Amino acid sequence: AALPKDLFSAIEALKKELNAIVLAHYYQEPDIQDIADYIGDSLGLSQKAAATDAEVIVFAGVHFMAETAKILNPDKLVLLPDLDAGCSLADSCPPVEFAKFKAAHPDHIVVSYINCTAEIKAMSDIICTSSNAVKLVNQIPPEQPIIFAPDRNLGRYVAAQTGRDLVLWQGSCIVHETFSEKKMLQLKMEHPNAEIVAHPECEEAILRHANFIGSTTALLKYVENSETEQFIVVTESGIIHQMEKQVPNKLFIPAPPDANCQCNECPHMRLNTLEKLYLAMKNRTPEITLPADIQKQALLPIQRMLTMSA
Ligand code: 13P
Ligand code: SF4
Repeated sequence: AALPKDLFSAIEALKKELNAIVLAHYYQEPDIQDIADYIGDSLGLSQKAAATDAEVIVFAGVHFMAETAKILNPDKLVLLPDLDAGCSLADSCPPVEFAKFKAAHPDHIVVSYINCTAEIKAMSDIICTSSNAVKLVNQIPPEQPIIFAPDRNLGRYVAAQTGRDLVLWQGSCIVHETFSEKKMLQLKMEHPNAEIVAHPECEEAILRHANFIGSTTALLKYVENSETEQFIVVTESGIIHQMEKQVPNKLFIPAPPDANCQCNECPHMRLNTLEKLYLAMKNRTPEITLPADIQKQALLPIQRMLTMSA
């Protein structure tokens, strides 16, 4: 069947019909951000998913995010517009290898970044996001050894911020690891008054130049409140849509990736489109499903995160 001419109105009508909430991450394409009921970082999205009384959750983000919403809402229908919207960071931590890694460090507790599969969450003690990782690690007794998985860049940043000696799983995000220090410094020379704001998934070589480091929500708040008028933004460029909407009088310059990679958009996040979002709601599929045991085991470390970051 042909798609409706006005997808925005059609999606609004489906929201009412299904009693659905549309949750979107800042890395979604602008149209999706504009139709969403809530846009946020990974922590905000989890908190919203935990609190919603809507019957259907339409998750405009990647698989691990929709999975987290499902773990928090086992009885609700959770839709992801494209089931192939994965995450290179989550893929960099396969469960069988991680089980061996964990077994090799038997006295350690496991703090996992939310960018991991439900299987990894089920093997973890506490889940964290980029906005609460430092806060949560600081709540763990100093004598307790910790494995931090799967992002080595966030892990190294958290270790430096907390002074803790974390055992790191060596995973990373393809988007944040492709930013080029050299090109970023060239941009800074062209815009000497601009401040550099960066996501902690970036490598150390990038983060050492940053005026501010934080989650997507933290970056958004920072550029709103800062006296500065220009920013070089070192994360997925989708966040710039929200920055321009909320602070229209300032200049946001996307940081360039290196020569081997043409764009700073996450190829997984961008698999979702407004058309696929509409079709998912109309057909009530693709749906997130999980084995009952994994769903149950993964819930506790997520609940710990929600309690500890409150
Ligand atoms: P935050 O949403 O915590 O800023 O993380 C960014 C990210 O890479 C999500 O995939
Ligand atoms: Fe995963 Fe990186 Fe994409 Fe975030 S930006 S979803 S961490 S691949």
